[in-house]
Amino acid sequence: MFREADTAVRLSEYQPYDWLVDTVDLDFQLEPAATRVRATLAMRPNPKGRNQSPIVLDGDELALVSLRLDGRVLSATEYEASASSLTIKNPPQGKLTLEIETVINPSANTKLMGLFRSNKIYCTQCEAEGFRRITYFPDRPDVLSVYTVRIEADRDEAPFLLSNGNPVEAFGIPGSNRHYAIWHDPHPKPAYLFALVGGKLDYIEEPFKTVSGRKVMLRIFVDPDKTQLAHYAMDALKRSMRWDEKVFGCEYDLDVFHIVAVSDFNMGAMENKGLNIFNDKYVLASPETATDLDYENIEAIIAHEYFHNWTGNRITCRDWFQLCLKEGLTVFRDQEFSSDERSRPVERIGDVRRLKSFQFVEDAGPLAHPVRPETYREINNFYTVTVYEKGAEVVRMLKTLLGERGFRKGMDLYFKRHDGDAATIEDFLKCFADANKQDLSQFARWYSQAGTPELAVRGTHDAKARTYTLDIEQMVPPTPGQSAKQPMVIPLKLGLLDAKGRDIPLKDAKGNPVRDNLIVLDKPSQTFVFSGVKEKPAVSINRGFSAPVKISTNFGAANLLFLAKYDSDPFNRYDAVEQLAMQQLVASARGSNEPPAALIEALDNALDNSKLDDAFLAQLFSLPDESDIAQQIGKNIDPDAILVARRKIKHDIGMALKEKLVARYQKLTSHRRYSPDAKSAGQRALRNACLDLLAATGDTAEHKRAFTQFEHADNMTDRMAALAVLAQYAIPERETALAAFEQRYRNDPLVLDKWFAVQARIPESGTLDRVEALTKHPAFSMTNPNRMRSLIGVFAANPSQFNRADGKGYALIADTVLGLDSKNPQVAARLLSAFKSWRTLEPGRRALAEKELNRIAQTPGLSPDVADIVSRSFA
Ligand code: BES
Ligand code: ZN
Repeated sequence: MFREADTAVRLSEYQPYDWLVDTVDLDFQLEPAATRVRATLAMRPNPKGRNQSPIVLDGDELALVSLRLDGRVLSATEYEASASSLTIKNPPQGKLTLEIETVINPSANTKLMGLFRSNKIYCTQCEAEGFRRITYFPDRPDVLSVYTVRIEADRDEAPFLLSNGNPVEAFGIPGSNRHYAIWHDPHPKPAYLFALVGGKLDYIEEPFKTVSGRKVMLRIFVDPDKTQLAHYAMDALKRSMRWDEKVFGCEYDLDVFHIVAVSDFNMGAMENKGLNIFNDKYVLASPETATDLDYENIEAIIAHEYFHNWTGNRITCRDWFQLCLKEGLTVFRDQEFSSDERSRPVERIGDVRRLKSFQFVEDAGPLAHPVRPETYREINNFYTVTVYEKGAEVVRMLKTLLGERGFRKGMDLYFKRHDGDAATIEDFLKCFADANKQDLSQFARWYSQAGTPELAVRGTHDAKARTYTLDIEQMVPPTPGQSAKQPMVIPLKLGLLDAKGRDIPLKDAKGNPVRDNLIVLDKPSQTFVFSGVKEKPAVSINRGFSAPVKISTNFGAANLLFLAKYDSDPFNRYDAVEQLAMQQLVASARGSNEPPAALIEALDNALDNSKLDDAFLAQLFSLPDESDIAQQIGKNIDPDAILVARRKIKHDIGMALKEKLVARYQKLTSHRRYSPDAKSAGQRALRNACLDLLAATGDTAEHKRAFTQFEHADNMTDRMAALAVLAQYAIPERETALAAFEQRYRNDPLVLDKWFAVQARIPESGTLDRVEALTKHPAFSMTNPNRMRSLIGVFAANPSQFNRADGKGYALIADTVLGLDSKNPQVAARLLSAFKSWRTLEPGRRALAEKELNRIAQTPGLSPDVADIVSRSFA
């Protein structure tokens, strides 16, 4: 379907496609600059579509070579072809076969959508609308077909030829140096799940037996000589498959499962049926080259893409408005997997930190949109933290409301009822409603109303009546296009603590126990009375972050200190410390010189508490970052003041807790061989958090400590952590360490990305020049998304330097966006979204940011991707 760059697509205008495509046969003749694609589509009118309709197929930068209908070459009057669409004007209204031939140039494809080449490897990316860059097709997720794919290529150039589904046959072609392979995928799928790979690859393989005894061969394909780096990913894959069988009853459904790692990829990874394609950053790992965070991400992303096999592939989306149906749900599933494989509380803390740091910011700015948007101009711009992370929170709330068993009943019904469907959020919710005999219509507002709900909570204790009363008001702030909001269903887990820090059993006004310590808000203002509360309790509210909301209370600072010490809920215990830190940081940024006594006391207590594990402590000891503080301040932001304030508080903590931090650092110094497991990673995380605070004292001995760690580290986590500490200070060791790092890893692009990033993050005015100089580094490339994000993307997220008072940070990003737009609009648009909080800046910076946004907006020939973000940025 052709659409003008400035025409919006609307959910309310959804119409089924007029035709069904039962089977698709694709024949690829792979050539670097001229790949020929022959597509044979077996079609028939859709009984649910309109009668007598033409066949309208999507295209993008395509050139039609030939076209036949039922074997007959069509005359020029019978069809209309352009680069972006192909229309068969009067097709017979019955079964028919279309044969379409196109020639495409994978080598010239810098958008990395459709068929492109990465390091000489042919590969595809079709989600969301990339298939139309390969052949003319109804490129929409509700058209499901069975695919058979024949790939022919030069034997030396592409010894491996892969596509979706099961291998059928593979042969050499006698008398030539070409060979071919045929693949068949029996599961009907939308075009966005199509994939093809061809190239020189190495692989590792391991057999897997599913719970019902089906034998599957798992393979991970990587660049030649990189197989040693794929073993952790293979291990994560096997664990994901087992977990999905056990926790969701989902079994794998093909004879092979293939993963291919490529080095030029717009996103993290893609769940193509039976042939996942990954950014190599999320596959390749060794202790020497990958950090604990890399390992954690690899595990989570391998799981995520694998889990899509059921939530995304077997059940796909009716249209792209339903993106959260697969993404939000699958993020929820990968978060649960990581919780089970690692530490549940620490996983929750990390997930909520990400949600608050990124999604709350998006929800509060001009790019705010509902979890299920109702209109879009460019779908690529809706793969957002709101769709993903808030989408996962909504599923988590469903589970909280329905309980473990009720949730599983709903999921079971969803898999049973919708297997093979292209479904909607309504379909999904109805399964939970039906399975639990519940009305979820008000809950559904989580999908349609944007903005983070705000709760105002007042607690009062009545000693005589022995009651504790919570008065709660909820408000959802206005967001672009949505001024008035309806009340939401908000599940709040809570606890009341007695003077000894023990949970008081929660009873309602009538003395009945409160199930799961859960109260559910559904009105603008509500009162909850708890009985049997003798003394004034401490209050722990929204335990486990049961709802993604902002809360203000009248509980006071003493309540926070108490929770930090005693709360039985680990998340809220962490959050109490976080809130204490935030109060001090905000006060300091506003000019207060008050030492952070309460925060230091809470951290000191935590260090003395032998029951808290290292990974948890590491979270407590990593303060909210500069952008979190900015978000809290909310308006007229001066990023320099925030930087200074944060440094000062870190300095104060380092000074106050110096002995204990040194002792802990030394105690955690391990001489065992590196292992990426969660416990060892937690030890390193805490040790490196200690190092960071110690270095903040400004003591040269502590800078030396960091340098020594850098020099002697036997793994990338510790080496990188030390380098990140050194990078914060303008000391000679910083440059020595940076030079040594470059020397050591100059031939490893994924590791050099860390080197680019650590420099782009330096909070000093010299960073702008440094970043510009690094764009000339031989390893840098503007068109490789990983390089781009590591240097320019990280700079755009450097609060004090992107927001330089002279506006040069904004200019650099604007120039980069404009320079990149014609080559890779998707990555350019994502970079541009760095401006999303521009209105919250102090007037001087705000004006400079606006000037750059205007400069972009006025540039002719913008891609739809960039045009969409820039125009919405003014909302
Ligand atoms: N389906 C997406 C990949 C994708 C994203 C394709 C955007 C086209 C446009 C995939 O399942 C995904 O969500 N990948 C994430 C990583 C995941 C762990 C959240 C990504 O690529 O960032
Ligand atoms: Zn996904």
